[in-house]
Amino acid sequence: MISVSIVGASGYTGGELLKILRRHPDVRVKHVTTSSSPGKRLEEVHPQLRKDFDLSLESFDAKRLARDTDVAFFALPHGVGSKNIAEFLATGKKVVDLSADFRLRDVKTYEAWYKVKHASPKLLKEAVYGLPELFRPRIPGARLVANPGCYATTTILALAPLLKNGVIDPASIIVDAKSGVSGAGKKLDLMYHFPECAENFQAYAVNKHRHMPEIEQTLKDVSGRTVALTFVPHLVPMTRGILACAYAKLRKKTDVSRIRALFEKEYGGERFIRLLPEGRWPQTKDVSYTNYVDINAAVDERNGRVIVLAALDNLVKGASGQAVQNMNLMFGLDEAAGLV
Ligand SMILES: NC(=O)c1ccc[n+]([C@@H]2O[C@H](COP(=O)([O-])OP(=O)(O)OC[C@H]3O[C@@H](n4cnc5c(N)ncnc54)[C@H](OP(=O)(O)O)[C@@H]3O)[C@@H](O)[C@H]2O)c1
Repeated sequence: MISVSIVGASGYTGGELLKILRRHPDVRVKHVTTSSSPGKRLEEVHPQLRKDFDLSLESFDAKRLARDTDVAFFALPHGVGSKNIAEFLATGKKVVDLSADFRLRDVKTYEAWYKVKHASPKLLKEAVYGLPELFRPRIPGARLVANPGCYATTTILALAPLLKNGVIDPASIIVDAKSGVSGAGKKLDLMYHFPECAENFQAYAVNKHRHMPEIEQTLKDVSGRTVALTFVPHLVPMTRGILACAYAKLRKKTDVSRIRALFEKEYGGERFIRLLPEGRWPQTKDVSYTNYVDINAAVDERNGRVIVLAALDNLVKGASGQAVQNMNLMFGLDEAAGLV
């Protein structure tokens, strides 16, 4: 049995982690933390979990948690948890961090995009980027796994096979992505109020979204080429789900069967990636509440472009499901344990 703690358990990704872990055969959840409501019963903040756990929310205390925890999931806003993560790692235990704090290797890039000073930059070199489909061999030995962002997971998985195989011009990529409102977490902000986002469809952070450097860094890692991305995210009036449409210039005339063969070669053995049949396009409903990423591609022969569509659930493969997938790999468990 692996003993687990969740730091920031009262939030959306913390709640999703608990929903996944309640059916995990090899895990026992020991501690759940909060900064605002220590002492509250877990079912008061997550009523769906009533009868699944007998736990009360606690304040974070690295030493107390470490006494009976093998791995802690940190599900805190960026810039909040990195000092605590360093403290917790010093006890000899492992961490999966769901925030952006350890995804970018260059501290200056992190501080420029996230507008906060990094509290534990020394750990950046050690952190392993936890995208199993691309970096699986690095994860089992890791002490600190940086769980990828939701837009980043969708976009990277959509484009990696094409960049890795040199099929597209890395300077020509445009991504148009849409997310459900839970992607912003439970915090209150005018943009996420019902009258603002219901029956509305808007772009935001146009070509300024914080996942851009993460996507560029990772696509460079897999392809060895510098990638320049144009990225436009949108908020869609639905609770969960991301659909990304990626467009890029083909380097030479290529038909869709060759593109499909590349995806099949790279992802054919992947448990959580589904290459859809020709003419069937990914949609958020098909991946909701699952750890799947649905992908399909088309070729625009008139303009020499490829179009790749990918959909996932931002709270599962885009966050907590992928975090559990990483934990499973870190501890030598079945990679799919607890996941659907
Ligand atoms: N939502 C998504 O789809 C998604 C996807 C991928 C990655 N992520 C990342 O995952 C992390 C968590 O996201 P979320 O959506 O779960 O956010 P959330 O719903 O806002 O929850 C944040 C959690 O952090 C705690 N918290 C907030 N401010 C804190 C502070 N100053 N000190 C200590 N604890 C604090 C909150 O607890 P209390 O209020 O009880 O103190 C809550 O448990 C973020 O870094 C986010 O970027 C989210």
